[in-house]
Amino acid sequence: MDVIRLKPGKDKAIRNRHPWIFSGAIAKAEGRLDPGAIVEVRASSGEFLARGYYNPRSQIAVRVLAWEPSVEITPAFWQSRLQAAIARRQAFAENPKTNAYRLVHAEADGLPGLIVDRYDEWLVLQSLTLGIEVSKPVISDILADLLKPRGIYERSDANVRAHEGLEPMTGVLAGAAPPKSVVIQENGLRFHADILRGHKTGFYLDQRDNRRRVANYCRGKDVLNAFSYTGGFAVYAAAQGASRIVNLDSSAEALQAAAENMRLNGFNREEDEYVEGNAFQVLRRFRDQGREFDVVILDPPKFAFSRAQVRSATRGYKDINMLGMRLLRPGGLLCTFSCSGLVSRDLFQKVLFGASVDAGRQVRIVESLGQGADHPILLTFPESAYLKGFICQVEKYAYTCAAEGNP
Ligand SMILES: C[S@@+](CC[C@H](N)C(=O)[O-])C[C@H]1O[C@@H](n2cnc3c(N)ncnc32)[C@H](O)[C@@H]1O
Repeated sequence: MDVIRLKPGKDKAIRNRHPWIFSGAIAKAEGRLDPGAIVEVRASSGEFLARGYYNPRSQIAVRVLAWEPSVEITPAFWQSRLQAAIARRQAFAENPKTNAYRLVHAEADGLPGLIVDRYDEWLVLQSLTLGIEVSKPVISDILADLLKPRGIYERSDANVRAHEGLEPMTGVLAGAAPPKSVVIQENGLRFHADILRGHKTGFYLDQRDNRRRVANYCRGKDVLNAFSYTGGFAVYAAAQGASRIVNLDSSAEALQAAAENMRLNGFNREEDEYVEGNAFQVLRRFRDQGREFDVVILDPPKFAFSRAQVRSATRGYKDINMLGMRLLRPGGLLCTFSCSGLVSRDLFQKVLFGASVDAGRQVRIVESLGQGADHPILLTFPESAYLKGFICQVEKYAYTCAAEGNP
């Protein structure tokens, strides 16, 4: 049996059921220790603490799979963990209006390094670690058996695999190859999901509830949907009767898909605009042109990939939110998001405070938003919380503000 022995005093986090063991916490590694092998984790005293998989190439040397000495990592183990994750999504499975959702949210479902998303009759699997890579064939067979999808497609092309010494991998794992577009349903609205090449596993499933919450404010409104991707927020806003929607994204292909998603739902809207460009520049241009909106949605990509990038990420968030606030008519709504896990909700709120001071606007948070219920947050693993958002009412101060140069 391969055994990882921790340094004295390095067992607190794991006793609190945090599933990561960093290489610096390891005193001794005993056994063959093949990369990806199952290991026992022991305290410096020799006491059994957990069982997990090992990767000597990763800073996260062990990811814990089980805390009980009696639990062996066999095909039956993977089957019971997958069944439990699927059972947690029972409400989604029974919802006739939504057929695309996350089935396995990695560590938060007791399956570190594994993402599985359902897109109607198709499953998309993302393996982020060597330990999952080793067990991928077993996991794929079990999923095929439990859920009988038309096919299971692999989208293991996330950059984080490089930290594990893994190359990107994509392709069919089981069944048929999916088509270029899979039409999914979300809260009764329809979208083309590109599971072969789209962002993440094909669609931003984590924003489902937030699209609905934001759309509630869009009836009869002028909406700027910045970082629109394939128009998720725009389709919901149109369904609620937004009067005009400007979709803005740096990707022409994403904007084309956004227009197609509008048509797919029967919305033939001459009044909407599709603007290709860098949001940081386009929002400045709109400001200079005196353009105004009732609702501004900001859903930028992840800005911070490491702790070293958090400072520059906060500068980016502050800048874009300051610009967004200034484009709003008095009393307008800023719907703003951050998907950088390393930027906490508290920090994001502080950034918005800084942006409001620079914009010279009085801002009230009216709703706090997060990731959908199919992306649960495990309390012992706070890293599973990554998406945060706020809906804010933005007003001009009725009196002179300390910030200079405000219009
Ligand atoms: C998190 S996604 C948005 C998801 C979208 N709101 C949805 O609900 O599907 C971020 C988007 O920002 C776009 N993007 C990245 N950098 C950008 C920039 N500087 N200016 C404009 N768009 C950008 C990407 O092409 C991507 O479509």
